Amino acid sequence: MAIAPRTPLIAGNWKMNLDHLQAVAFVQKLHWTLKDAKHEDGSVEVAVFPPFTDLRTVQTLLDADKIPFALGAQDLSAHDSGAYTGEVSGAFLAKLDNRYVIIGHSERRQYHAESDEVVAAKVKAALRHGLIPVICVGETSEDLEKFGASAVPVAQLTAALAGVKADAEIVVAYEPVWAIGSGQAATPQQAQDVCATLRGVIAEKLGADAAAKTRVLYGGSVKAANIASFMREPDVDGALVGGASLVVDEFAAIIRYQKHVGV
Ligand code: 13P
Repeated sequence: MAIAPRTPLIAGNWKMNLDHLQAVAFVQKLHWTLKDAKHEDGSVEVAVFPPFTDLRTVQTLLDADKIPFALGAQDLSAHDSGAYTGEVSGAFLAKLDNRYVIIGHSERRQYHAESDEVVAAKVKAALRHGLIPVICVGETSEDLEKFGASAVPVAQLTAALAGVKADAEIVVAYEPVWAIGSGQAATPQQAQDVCATLRGVIAEKLGADAAAKTRVLYGGSVKAANIASFMREPDVDGALVGGASLVVDEFAAIIRYQKHVGV
């Protein structure tokens, strides 16, 4: 399915939750819920990011039942193949019809010591295999206090875009670390300010055309009750949702933000 430029993207990062059987039940239920609400009209792109072990099963279900959700992985290797025990190649993800891959999530930066260099190498690996990298950037609360909200995300995105060509399709997600899983979302204005600044980085590195086309998402304690306030902001093109993407009715309500609050 061709996606119009800047179509809002609501993406569910399941993190290490839901095994492949639970994933099937979840995707079916979400599909039925949205279908009942007549909300599979393409006005919002829905993407799910299950654990690696679920991907084949979910791909088969999406394909067999013609469910219009995009599939994405939560990480990939910077390498294409070879002696890298435990790693997953972008080539394998592309074979499973993944459209997206999350790169540089703060949990990987924090728990797996992923540096800006590793993130940049993974972005290139994703693009080599025709995957759209969802590049995550965000500051901790210490960074926020010391440098303000934009400095760290700008530095992280600048590093991640090194060597990326102007016509590459990417997605950027601003995920303040202090807002992830905390119940304390950024304010819509904070999200807008950083997302606009990140769009400026894209303009500088990849050109005005890329900046105009690229979707910049907000992530961090997004729920049905606050999604509309983010989506009203001109530089927020969607959301990367963690906890709330694991609850069918809540995630469906987030996807239906236009309907239930009239944005
Ligand atoms: P929460 O929505 O649970 O805060 O998680 C956000 C996130 O990390 C998505 O990648």
